[in-house]
Amino acid sequence: MCGIVGYIGNEQAQPILLTGLEKLEYRGYDSAGIYVVEHQKGYLFKEVGRIQQLKEATDYSICATYGIGHTRWATHGVPSTQNAHPHQSFDKRFTLVHNGVIENYQELKETYLSHVVLQGQTDTEVIVSLIAYFAQEKQWSAKQSFQYVLSLIHGSYAFALIDNQTPDVIYAAKHKSPLLVGIGSQFNMVCSDAMAGIHQTRQFIELHDGEFVTLTKADVSIEKDGHIIQRQSYTAQIDASDLEKGTYPFYMLKEIDEQPAVLRRIIKEYTKDNQLDIPNDVKQAILTSDRIHIIACGTSYHAGLVGKYYLETFAHIPTEVHIASEFSYHPPLISGKPFFIFISQSGETADSRQALVKINEWNYPSLTLTNVNGSTLSRESNYTLLLHAGPEIAVASTKAYIAQMAVLSIIAYALSHDTLKDAFNLSYELSLVSNAMESIISQKDDIHIFAKTYLKDAKHAFFIGRGLDYLVSLEAALKLKEISYIQTEGFAAGELKHGTIALIEQNTPVFTIITQDETSLNTRGNIQEVKARGAKTCTFVMGKLATKDDQFILPDVSKYLSPLLSIVPSQLLAYYATLELGYDVDKPRNLAKSVTVE
Ligand code: M6R
Repeated sequence: MCGIVGYIGNEQAQPILLTGLEKLEYRGYDSAGIYVVEHQKGYLFKEVGRIQQLKEATDYSICATYGIGHTRWATHGVPSTQNAHPHQSFDKRFTLVHNGVIENYQELKETYLSHVVLQGQTDTEVIVSLIAYFAQEKQWSAKQSFQYVLSLIHGSYAFALIDNQTPDVIYAAKHKSPLLVGIGSQFNMVCSDAMAGIHQTRQFIELHDGEFVTLTKADVSIEKDGHIIQRQSYTAQIDASDLEKGTYPFYMLKEIDEQPAVLRRIIKEYTKDNQLDIPNDVKQAILTSDRIHIIACGTSYHAGLVGKYYLETFAHIPTEVHIASEFSYHPPLISGKPFFIFISQSGETADSRQALVKINEWNYPSLTLTNVNGSTLSRESNYTLLLHAGPEIAVASTKAYIAQMAVLSIIAYALSHDTLKDAFNLSYELSLVSNAMESIISQKDDIHIFAKTYLKDAKHAFFIGRGLDYLVSLEAALKLKEISYIQTEGFAAGELKHGTIALIEQNTPVFTIITQDETSLNTRGNIQEVKARGAKTCTFVMGKLATKDDQFILPDVSKYLSPLLSIVPSQLLAYYATLELGYDVDKPRNLAKSVTVE
């Protein structure tokens, strides 16, 4: 979702800001802009569409040494140059970029700015004009005026502000939306995540809610409620090559290919004394609870469903899984000693964060599984376990999903009794999965052919399965629909006949996942039912359950771990179907990587 980058130093600002915005592209956006200042004169460039268009529209003859940039994912108002950030105040004195949503902007506009004609429909334009209004009315400095406006705002924000009358300064503020300060020698930066600044520095300071920052090229001052905050910087552990596509045409394909390596890294990171384990304090906290609640969105929610299976099967702990946006406003009846697990690749998802705010108010213990150390969810929960998937850039989550399921299996295993551990070596079984993934990935050309055969002219498609295979069907369907725009349902195979089978027509593609012995025959019966109604069926079947009529054979792995494997052909199918349709695989329409609004 929206991304912010700001730079103040001695170098030319435009290339630094534009590179930062390119690194934020993965979050999803529909327009972008930069504002740069040369000798107290500001220049604004905004474009709808890709950063490449903004690069082409930017004037590089300007020797600007500071500026702010933004990628916008529309919330208030359509994608347009008027609504793109940076926004300027009615008097052009102030320029602002914003990530988040201001809930009371209409009210503020009516109260203070009824005389002002605004250019677009955004909440941000109201805020920047409000800063100008108070600076004029009260004869306040930029900082006084900005801080006063912050006190009037309800909602979420990360802001970066430039005032034409306060040269060589960038102001920033944060509440509920992520923001970091990047520290350099003779320069400083402000950015939504470390990727936007990693081409300049590895040193970052996390900002917390309610903090206000004044940046010059030589200094960073962080304050909250009038008190100066001292906070150590940390070194971002991002390998620059992780951020490049290399020879891959799209990040999604690279990230699918990385999955075997991710699994091996997770095994290494969680091995202690030759056994997969989790830190003792996390283990004890979970073991003293009577019920686990997993909270997540999208793909992470689908991983949570598999996690419930692991926690109940391996560790015998009753577990519920909740969609974060539902949990916050319709919480279930909660038992006496609950423990909450948040799953979020980005660690910034606003729906999950809102649920965590509630959990913290209720004083319940929580653990976050995330790919991003120091992310908001990680900071605000009691414990964090990292996914170690490496930066995931494509909007469609792939390697984070398998990492989430792998870490959940390790948590459940660590909480299980010795009898399970004696009978089942999870580390060995996971390593078999990683080898099996390689074998599937090496057959990607076959899956490319499936994509052409089954999905070329498809308007609708189904993934079906039972038990764990049903849970994977949900994720497989999300993958296909979110990037190819083919309407796809993931369905419990046995449930189709209770209504949804009415949608099966001649040539409707139905993909079936079969990895579980006890349900394979029933699921095959369901395939016959859809076939009889004209469906074009394709099966992804575990080797030992396969027949000569199956289309794609998965190497045999532990039945518990099959979701980590059976999702891979579906990810590739989604990738190739989208490629064939000619859409941008990594940046599907209307979607953002980091969904920072509720
Ligand atoms: O960063 P998170 O894991 O919290 O994100 C949750 C969802 O927004 C995310 O999984 C989304 O569903 C992806 N587009 C799926 O590919």
